[in-house]
Amino acid sequence: MSIIASISADVLKSAQQQIQQDLTQALDAFALPEPLKGAVYHAVMLGGKRVRPALCYATAALQPHRHVAAVRRAAVAVELIHCYSLAHDDLPCMDNDSLRRGQPTCHVAFGEDTALLAGDVLQSMAYEVLGSRLFDTGVAIESGIVLKQMQILATASSKMVCGQVLDLQAEGKKVNQEALENIHRNKTGALIQAAIMMAAVTIFKGTDPAIPQLRQFGQSIGLAFQVQDDILDVTAETEVLGKTAGKDLEVEKSTYPALLGLDAAQAYAQQLHDQALQALSYFGEDAQQLHAITQFLLARQH
Ligand code: IPE
Ligand code: IPE
Ligand code: MG
Ligand code: MG
Ligand code: MG
Repeated sequence: MSIIASISADVLKSAQQQIQQDLTQALDAFALPEPLKGAVYHAVMLGGKRVRPALCYATAALQPHRHVAAVRRAAVAVELIHCYSLAHDDLPCMDNDSLRRGQPTCHVAFGEDTALLAGDVLQSMAYEVLGSRLFDTGVAIESGIVLKQMQILATASSKMVCGQVLDLQAEGKKVNQEALENIHRNKTGALIQAAIMMAAVTIFKGTDPAIPQLRQFGQSIGLAFQVQDDILDVTAETEVLGKTAGKDLEVEKSTYPALLGLDAAQAYAQQLHDQALQALSYFGEDAQQLHAITQFLLARQH
């Protein structure tokens, strides 16, 4: 393994361990009735790369700070919203998928009604976590920062829903690149950017020039993520992906490989990663973790 690849693996692995513990603690704090509880644990705890929490922690690592608990809550909250989006994305009325993270999808395991409600409750739980004292060790956080975190997450979450509507409407149609970019930025890019910005507003003042750099980084890496997701649907195997490969083609989704061809889609993903790295260059050595995650994302096979 190259040095860069091994740093990426370490950063992601330690983020995965942290978020796994924190998600367990967060979910255990809710008294959910069965079968909702089972469906929520199924949607949240069984695998996942945990890219959004990793980006949240890596952004917070840009400088020493006192708000560790608030960053940990933000990472949990964004992952809960992401898991809700996946449970709903897989429903028969949406992408109608039966495999997710190498497991039966939430509605296959628990029924459509419970999977729908698991997504609903995950959404509310995300904001409850953000407003809670979970993980606190004594350093109080200003309520202004919590409000900003909530606002960022709520805005991105609404964008995700708008993007999902556009995605469904674009099935079986040929949309142009501008329209496709709008879909991808909304359905996926916004939440990834939010993972970064929730940490950013926790550790930097609103006027810090780091903020626009991170917004730019988030925008580029967020779009790159969905372009790569489209590419992997074509190039990866179901066993490695943990979800059904070739599904986009089957239902005539509007994707980058469908629009541009595979080679041009790959070149575009590379270009977006370069843009993301360019935005990080502002931070120099301090952005080592964000750099590592960006490298991992470009090379990812699932
Ligand atoms: C899949 O997201 C859905 C998209 C937004 C493209 P991830 O690739 O992050 O899924 P998990 O969390 O690792 O399963
Ligand atoms: C998902 O996009 C975006 C979400 C908001 C969940 P996809 O529909 O391409 O995600 P996968 O491929 O099913 O993970
Ligand atoms: Mg979808
Ligand atoms: Mg899908
Ligand atoms: Mg996909």
